Amino acid sequence: MASLSSEELNRIRDSVNIVDVVASYINLEKKGKNYFGICPFHDDHTPSMSVSEEKQIFTCFVCGASGNVFTFIKDYENISFVEAVNKVANFSGIKLSQTINVVKKYDKEYKAYDLAIKYYKNNLKSKEGSKALEYLKSRNISEDIIEEFDIGVSFLESHLSKLLINKKFDEDMLVNIGLVNKKEGIYDIFRNRIMFPIHNNFGDPIGFSARVYNGEVDTKYINTRETYIFKKGEVLFNFHRASVHAKKSGYLILCEGQMDAIRIYSSGIKNVCATMGTALTNYHINLIKKLNVRVILNMDSDNAGIKAALQNGELLRNNNIDVSILKLNDAKDPDEYIIKFGKEAYEDSLKHAISLFDFKLNYLKLNKDLSKADELTEYINDVINELNKYNDDVLKSITINKISEEYNIDKNILLNKLIKPVNPIKEEVTINVSKKKSNQNIKAIEEVLYYMMNNVQYANIFVKELNYVPEQKYLDIEKDIQAYIILNNTINMADFITYEMNKGKDGIIKEIINNHNNDVEMNIEEFMEYIKIIRKWINTSKINSLKVELKTVNDINRKKEIADIIARIKRESEEYGK
Ligand code: GTP
Ligand code: MN
Repeated sequence: MASLSSEELNRIRDSVNIVDVVASYINLEKKGKNYFGICPFHDDHTPSMSVSEEKQIFTCFVCGASGNVFTFIKDYENISFVEAVNKVANFSGIKLSQTINVVKKYDKEYKAYDLAIKYYKNNLKSKEGSKALEYLKSRNISEDIIEEFDIGVSFLESHLSKLLINKKFDEDMLVNIGLVNKKEGIYDIFRNRIMFPIHNNFGDPIGFSARVYNGEVDTKYINTRETYIFKKGEVLFNFHRASVHAKKSGYLILCEGQMDAIRIYSSGIKNVCATMGTALTNYHINLIKKLNVRVILNMDSDNAGIKAALQNGELLRNNNIDVSILKLNDAKDPDEYIIKFGKEAYEDSLKHAISLFDFKLNYLKLNKDLSKADELTEYINDVINELNKYNDDVLKSITINKISEEYNIDKNILLNKLIKPVNPIKEEVTINVSKKKSNQNIKAIEEVLYYMMNNVQYANIFVKELNYVPEQKYLDIEKDIQAYIILNNTINMADFITYEMNKGKDGIIKEIINNHNNDVEMNIEEFMEYIKIIRKWINTSKINSLKVELKTVNDINRKKEIADIIARIKRESEEYGK
């Protein structure tokens, strides 16, 4: 990114109004000077995010998300800074200089995959590809879907290897990324299979899932083996397409197979991705967590699918992700369900996804004849065991009432079986956690920096009056502000954020913006008040350390000297205080 000048970055940022850009993602309503909307970066229910047209920044007073238009797009779409800059440029139709195309670390690898995708896709259009195409048609995969997902086919001959070698790709690299094999010659890894490209969460192609299609007895799918760019534990099929849609709709559908994800996505429900048959990892969980959305688990209907739903559901819930489970009837998986019953039926079924706990209760009922006393007993004990894992009195109370009524069992017997008895339900105490820093000194520094970031005049006053803040992390930002002003002759917050983003230091700025009280217009009196507080702080700590020295030195002259300095600092402070 270093290759893109800050003038160019600022020009791009300035070419759009942050209000328009944010409004293209979330609903905004004007209230007073600012615009407000539901914050997409936390589980928000009332509009906590404000967007300032004047300052060209956004800030959420609940979760602390804040930044400029680049930050918003980067975090919303889960893309890199460079991509966010590109999007903003696209938004206003700015043509970018060459320099923006920053070379990615694994650019060569992705290029090799791009070529492989093109090659396999071309195969599908060739005469030899007709059988594969027929297969896809038989599975209701239309031309549009093939186009959207770049589906292709590999043949028996090793044409891809030759093509890539001809294009001067490094042989060892091709072997290492799982595209070719090297044994007395070069061979294609994938032969005679339908090819589904797989991408990382930035949308770079990193592997394939390859399916048999001509009835051979063989492994159904062969996926790219673990490589340095294809990490199985990090891949979620279709995540790079789904994330934006998930944020828009507030939920993400998670299914098992890529065919399921493709089917759901192409019927217009685009907030879907697939685990590709493996268990969720912590990496996946973090990826999903960043979206800040609910998850609907829509695994296959077989036993393995039920187990996967329970396991994944538990993991998501333990990570405080709101999860519900959709089990489809009369179809083995979502793909089959949509083909059989249509898109509307599927959409409707989404509304009937049930909680993980209810799903477990159903699971515990499975294969039990509850009219038999011993099986009913076993079931009830299982339910109580399950309940004991939860720390939710409401859930306990509701469940006990329900089964007591349903099976006509004395409620007290059930309650006695709980390890921790249900407490009488207390009214929920709303704790108003004030995020504003209580420390007046820190507050003053943050405010002074806020003013400086917004207006070069304030920065100049600061240099004259103090030119120092007694806290390293803020001093660091202060130095950056000065450097920025020297470079640009001016400053505004939105562009300064870009500058700090490039240095990976926008975190503190977020705090500063978030702690700032927007209700008060910036004014010189307030600024000077903050300067005074900081000066007092600096002086007090100076005096304190001088007093320590005063106690420890024996030399009478030095003692006198120190006492004079202390007196002088005190006198000066009083003068300033007037
Ligand atoms: P279709 O039969 O094409 O409809 O597949 P599916 O989407 O219904 O997949 P299935 O439920 O059978 O499996 C779920 C996912 O697990 C697939 O999408 C694959 O990514 C993966 N998978 C399935 N079978 C195999 C296999 O034999 N080997 C490997 N490595 N992965 C597989
Ligand atoms: Mn299937």
